[in-house]
Amino acid sequence: MNREDFPMLKQDFVYFDNGATTFKPAILSESIREYYNEYSANAHRGDYDISLKVDNMYEGTRKKVQELLHATSSDEIVFTSGATDALNKIIFGYFRYYLKKGDEVLLTKSEHASNVLPWFELADDIGIIIRYIELDDHKKVTMKNVKRAITPKTKVISLAHITNVVGDIRPIEEINHYAHKMGILVLVDGAQSVPHMKIDVQELDIDFLTFSAHKMYGPTGVGVLYGKKELLNQIHPIEFGGGMNSSFSSDGMRIYDELPHLLEPGTPNIAGVIGFGSILTYLEQIGMDKIAIYEQELHNYAVEKLKTVPNIILYNEYSESGIIAMNIKDVFAQDLAIYLNKYKICVRAGNHCAKILKDELGIKNTCRISLAFYNNKEEIDYLVKVLSNPNLKEEII
Ligand code: ALA
Repeated sequence: MNREDFPMLKQDFVYFDNGATTFKPAILSESIREYYNEYSANAHRGDYDISLKVDNMYEGTRKKVQELLHATSSDEIVFTSGATDALNKIIFGYFRYYLKKGDEVLLTKSEHASNVLPWFELADDIGIIIRYIELDDHKKVTMKNVKRAITPKTKVISLAHITNVVGDIRPIEEINHYAHKMGILVLVDGAQSVPHMKIDVQELDIDFLTFSAHKMYGPTGVGVLYGKKELLNQIHPIEFGGGMNSSFSSDGMRIYDELPHLLEPGTPNIAGVIGFGSILTYLEQIGMDKIAIYEQELHNYAVEKLKTVPNIILYNEYSESGIIAMNIKDVFAQDLAIYLNKYKICVRAGNHCAKILKDELGIKNTCRISLAFYNNKEEIDYLVKVLSNPNLKEEII
């Protein structure tokens, strides 16, 4: 789908590492070039034409993100440097004040480091207790296990919508519905979901959501923090400076700006945000629903084909997303990735930043195939052919 839009695809390799970052359509560098060459002023500071154009373009992207997520207001959209930054802003700017010693936060053992380490730090800081929702035999989150993990002290559930190794799609709507009835807030890490499916934060009743532009065909260095307005209104900034205050004086008096600017101090990544706007228009033209259906079909095709590979171990054949974790029996994951690289196939090997998942999978490292809408069946067939090479082990040694 749309392969001709991606300059990187003109090179002779097969890219299956879209969970780490995606390729970018040419429109991204065109819009960034236009900003730097034609109206390269700062945002929210100037009273002259090109600066006003910057404001329009920057705020235009915020509006597009609002539309993408079906948020009620663009004030609920904050630009960050990525999903990690957004998670830290929520955990240290909101939950640092919301939670008290002894309150419990529920995670799972398949969360990414960025949704675990800030909680560990907060636990050291204020004495909250981290607990884990048990995963089922397919490493999925079930409602039964969510309900079982909740205690009267549970105040937050923080989990990925789609995990970056096992690729399971969590029942976020059901979790939110149940959690909210129990007075529990839910933080959703959407880094692996927002780029691949339609998200409606109102329909799903999401409290907080984070994601990165670079995993969504956009620029590096741009992320999004979404929060329901009534929650965001209580967030504390964790960074201070220009662009987030309306006044301060020598005695320490200061008045800070309203959302979303309160959480965007300093000169933001203007070029990146404007570039991301062009990507959102591009994706809207294709349709997130169409992308989701295509990737689902490709995933099913890939799983069926991969099952025919001799000695393959598939860790998540029952997951629904475009993420497939695998190994070849008796081959170290990184050696397999290096072998695939010889055939110009890019996959990621290792623990993929989900370092406590190994306890669950019983294996430290996997090779991960993560699909995007520009991948196709021919590429999967080629991967399967290369993996089925009878001399694979000899070539690795
Ligand atoms: N979080 C990214 C990944 O899963 C880097 O590869």
